[in-house]
Amino acid sequence: MPMLDKWYKDAVIYQIWPRSFADGNGDGIGDLYGVYQRLDYVRALGSTAIWFSPLYRSPQADYGYDISDYRAIAPEYGDLDIFRKVLDRCHRLGMKVIMDLVINHTSDRHPWFVASRDQASPYRGYYFWRDRPNNWDSMFGGKAWDFDPAAGAYYMHLFTRQQPDLNMDNPKVRAEIEGIMRFWLDMGVDGFREDVINCISKTESLPDDWRPAARGMRYYVNGPHLREYLAQFKKVRDQYDAFAVGEGVLLKPKAALAMIAEGPGQLLDMMFTFQHMEADCLFTEYYPHPFSLIKLKKAFSDWQRLLAGRAWNALYIENHDHPRVISRYGSEEYRVVSGKMLAACYLFLQGTPFIYQGQEIGMTNIRLDSIDEYPDTAAHNHYRSYRRLMPERTAMRLVQRASRDSARTPMQWDATANAGFSTVKPWFAVNPDYKAVNAAGAAADPDSLLNFYRKAIALRTELPVVKHGEYREFGHLNPWIYAYGRVLDGQRLLVVCSFTARRCFFRAPKGYKLDAGRMLLGNYADAPLTADGFACRPYETRVYLFE
Ligand code: GLC
Ligand code: CA
Repeated sequence: MPMLDKWYKDAVIYQIWPRSFADGNGDGIGDLYGVYQRLDYVRALGSTAIWFSPLYRSPQADYGYDISDYRAIAPEYGDLDIFRKVLDRCHRLGMKVIMDLVINHTSDRHPWFVASRDQASPYRGYYFWRDRPNNWDSMFGGKAWDFDPAAGAYYMHLFTRQQPDLNMDNPKVRAEIEGIMRFWLDMGVDGFREDVINCISKTESLPDDWRPAARGMRYYVNGPHLREYLAQFKKVRDQYDAFAVGEGVLLKPKAALAMIAEGPGQLLDMMFTFQHMEADCLFTEYYPHPFSLIKLKKAFSDWQRLLAGRAWNALYIENHDHPRVISRYGSEEYRVVSGKMLAACYLFLQGTPFIYQGQEIGMTNIRLDSIDEYPDTAAHNHYRSYRRLMPERTAMRLVQRASRDSARTPMQWDATANAGFSTVKPWFAVNPDYKAVNAAGAAADPDSLLNFYRKAIALRTELPVVKHGEYREFGHLNPWIYAYGRVLDGQRLLVVCSFTARRCFFRAPKGYKLDAGRMLLGNYADAPLTADGFACRPYETRVYLFE
């Protein structure tokens, strides 16, 4: 056990998507004034850090992931003054602050891009301008190239049209990034979440890709100069002892280890993978298939095993890019019960857990009737492709199931108008279930999901086995139950999670006599058992400790 562990290994990180967290100035849009008022709530959950999705000035074509000024706060979210106040208050409450660093692309309204339309501009080489596009696809549907009439050329965008990719091969671009990092680190932020970071280096010749789908990916995912560029940015962070978690597209453990294995060559502290978010879909929720617990377990277990002793996991089951997890892997009918089970299924793994706003109170997917009500561009692009193949109703059902907009409805604070999010009509629809599903109600109910999260987080910090214990999976072919253990010296933890509404029997693994263990958590009022196992009720979870 290393003597001095980095702080992030004991952290619980709460993610705030600012537009929908809390509206402090009554214009219907979440902002930093609202965040400031709710910091105690975040801390009371047990969070020791906050990751802010982008707060920067942005035309909001991709809700802040299209940045037009990296050194300014979006006026609808506040200004640098209130940001500094939030930062300071977080630190006084014992919470670090992590900013979203979006450097694969800028907004098309960023002054660099505007200037780069002119061939003679020094900014021309900041982006990918070509007379002829290649055949790559955008990750949000459609093509990755658009013609710009003013520039008389095509430019590349792996995401929306309004997000031109930066040419990271240009040393001037990398110097700009260094400057941006220093700006925020000098202000006192503690680190970064680095957006689609394994896409920042493209094969320089930008060759056509003759695969049938996701064209281009093999030329920019974990690209040729990725390590070199990450090393350059790490040098900046090291001067501040700052933290970094990267987001990795199509990332598998082996590629992750090349960046996060601890030791001299380490480039990032941890990486987000998408693998466990694909248990009911292929690559994105827009290509759905029935939920497979086997697939989910394999993803969790692969990452636990392959990183053990070598690198640190970033644990999450929700963020702003995925529909709500209860609606996917759990059950809206058993909302609270399945929400608790889902909490237990990842909170006792090895790594640093992230909790996304609203996850802790069990918010679920919204279902809007018309595509016009969905703000996200990706929803519209996929809807258009669906409509070529199917009737409107079927297409809408798929969008309702897949859209990340479900994670972006206003946070449900209480049962008053607009869910207590705002005094006026919010920028986006409030989930109609807010009278039953809200933070105030959950705080007052000892059996709520919120209080389950608080207990589970407190347990994580109390039990060394959660941080250091060896991971074991039991019954990996069981299609209904995920059971895993953690073992450290004399301490053994056993976590049992049923992913089904049917009854099924959980047989204790060899060497575990359940009646000799202490039950730490469960999601039913009682917990009948025998030494050999128990009959799981719908979405039942139990956590046992053996000492
Ligand atoms: C990341 C962000 C997502 C954004 C995309 C493009 O995946 O999490 O919200 O749309 O990058 O910046
Ligand atoms: Ca506001």
